[in-house]
Amino acid sequence: DKVVLAYSGGLDTSVIVRWLQETYGCEVVTFTADIGQGEEVSPARAKAEALGVREIYIDDLREEYVRDFVFPMFRANAIYEGEYLLGTAIARPLIAKRLIEIANETGADAIAHGATGKGNDQVRFELGAYGLRPGIQVIAPWREWDLNSREKLMMYCEQHNIPVDFSSSKKQSPYSMDANLLHISYEGGMLEDPWAEAEEDMWRWSVSPEAAPEQATYTTITFERGDPVALDGDTMSPALLLETLNRLGGANGIGRLDIVENRYVGMKSRGCYETPGGTILLKAHRAIESITLDREVAHMKDSLMPRYAELIYNGYWWSPERRMLQAAIDESQQVVNGEVRLKLYKGSVSVAGRRSADSLFDGRIATFEDDAGAYDQRDAEGFIQLNALRLRIAADKGRKLI
Ligand code: ARG
Ligand code: SIN
Repeated sequence: DKVVLAYSGGLDTSVIVRWLQETYGCEVVTFTADIGQGEEVSPARAKAEALGVREIYIDDLREEYVRDFVFPMFRANAIYEGEYLLGTAIARPLIAKRLIEIANETGADAIAHGATGKGNDQVRFELGAYGLRPGIQVIAPWREWDLNSREKLMMYCEQHNIPVDFSSSKKQSPYSMDANLLHISYEGGMLEDPWAEAEEDMWRWSVSPEAAPEQATYTTITFERGDPVALDGDTMSPALLLETLNRLGGANGIGRLDIVENRYVGMKSRGCYETPGGTILLKAHRAIESITLDREVAHMKDSLMPRYAELIYNGYWWSPERRMLQAAIDESQQVVNGEVRLKLYKGSVSVAGRRSADSLFDGRIATFEDDAGAYDQRDAEGFIQLNALRLRIAADKGRKLI
């Protein structure tokens, strides 16, 4: 028996390696991905080797992550509950896919992960895994064991001679954090009181708006078919582009968020997020759509967006309904080409300009000046008369409209 574990190299998942070996007597394959969490992934090899792991996968998935998951999601302008840019949710289907691919390659019949039984992540990993390989077995140690504190985990390390010294490793954060190229999130600790303001030194990716430069920063994003491809004229790979936007946004205090959200498993949870690049990108993408998309296409996209965001949040990236919506969204993006110029200033992003060869904006028609016959204002009278017809009939028949 063989199990593929999503392995970070940290304390929790190192305990999981030994626990799987001892509890299930199975061979553990570890999988560690670089998705831009900002920690070295290479030390995971030595740590896994020290735990007796023979098959060790360490993958750089940064480009794939941004190109095939983040950007497709941004084509939809997806936001969960009006605020959350889905930075953790969108990374999970990629991890699920790689876990299954590695299981197939190594002849494993199970996967395991370090998500708790109270969160969304377990749902996302497992729905993805079952969708991609229906017969897969799933082991979620946090739902089975009783090692629910750092002390118990440390004790387990000592008793089961887990060789890595975690106690001397860098100071433990009081928060449950998750980071990738799209965001960093903080939950737990003092954030469990929704009235308590997050401490300034919790935030790792951005300066506070107050501390941001007095001078605004301008940047121009070029879009092709709904995806950003260049910054200030420099063509960049998806990961590099997002990383660069993160730096620009962070330096200008952009992308902080503090919310209480509804988890799929039923509870409300308080979370803080930093999504500097994503916040800029969303603003820019809406701006380029504003001149290139037909009105009804844009409005229909907006009406589907909350459903699309919810299905990603809930873990249904690998689902028929996501494929269906993605096809419609992608079709709409064929004309979403052009440039958006943005002003970044003390926590805010505003649009300074937008232009496109595919623009539907017609200055001749829109102008308040003389339009030389492009639009006959007398047509508006009939337009209003017919639209008022049912209102007048209802009023004539005594229907109350007020
Ligand atoms: N609440 C957010 C979400 O469900 C972030 C979860 C963070 N995950 C973590 N393992 N700390 O997408
Ligand atoms: C976890 O439970 O592992 C983190 C929180 C979440 O998944 O929502």
